[in-house]
Amino acid sequence: MNLLNGDCLQILPTLGEQSFDLVVTSPPYNLGIDYNTFKDTASRTDFLDWCRSWATEIRRVMADDASFFLNVGAAPANPLMPYQLLLALTDGPSPLFILQNTFHWIKSISVETRSGEIISAGHFKPINSPRFVNDCHEFVFHLTKSGKVPLDRRGAGVPYQDKSNISRWGHTGGVDKRCRGNTWFIPYDTIQSRDQERPHPATFPVGLVEQCIRIHGKGEATRLLDPFLGIGTSAVAAQSMKLSHFTGIELDSYYLSVAHDRLKTPPQTELF
Ligand SMILES: C[S@@+](CC[C@H](N)C(=O)[O-])C[C@H]1O[C@@H](n2cnc3c(N)ncnc32)[C@H](O)[C@@H]1O
Repeated sequence: MNLLNGDCLQILPTLGEQSFDLVVTSPPYNLGIDYNTFKDTASRTDFLDWCRSWATEIRRVMADDASFFLNVGAAPANPLMPYQLLLALTDGPSPLFILQNTFHWIKSISVETRSGEIISAGHFKPINSPRFVNDCHEFVFHLTKSGKVPLDRRGAGVPYQDKSNISRWGHTGGVDKRCRGNTWFIPYDTIQSRDQERPHPATFPVGLVEQCIRIHGKGEATRLLDPFLGIGTSAVAAQSMKLSHFTGIELDSYYLSVAHDRLKTPPQTELF
């Protein structure tokens, strides 16, 4: 585990070209979130320019068949940000990446069963507004250099609901696993005290990173990078999946110290 304290714009250029198979990260979203050190309040243009700078470095350190899973959410006051960031990285005269897949990280869902019962699961921050509904999802944009990176679709798959499909479709090879699709219901763990158990305003769940590792399909050989490490969620996923190499970069030394603590006491159970 290589956990580095500093600005990823300074540190990324020190990392070797094509030295990572997988990047999973969640940058600051420029939504005015109250981070310890980082000021999350740039102008839209400055923010997008800044994102292009670190994304250029990410591209440089990615192997040609690497995957970059970019997690971004929006806010009612800033609903276009994920799309603007995506366009900044994939559009224009010199696109950095091709958008290969769009995943939806579902934090909370309500499902009506056949008997009419409604079951709800998962945590989210409620929005108190007559205009806006609760926001229960974020994007995970899957960006690659070529748009043609093969994935282990069934590595992150689920069993067939209707088992007759296993013999009906030739591509199953007799295996009871199908591609899960692009809606990933991955709830946050239930916690009692945010200050003690999750002292950071904008984390993603360990299960989200584990899912990215599975679908990229390189197993324990995966060399994983997270340049906006926060309190080390992706490092915990790398540890739980016994990856050969992990590098994380975080500006704030307190968040990094929490990441070190989490690695010493890995979670017993993780929902996803
Ligand atoms: C959305 S949070 C990531 C949270 C992380 N996924 C987790 O689960 O803990 C973004 C993080 O980027 C950090 N950050 C902001 N600017 C940075 C920079 N230039 N270099 C490295 N880290 C930075 C912030 O301190 C914040 O912890």
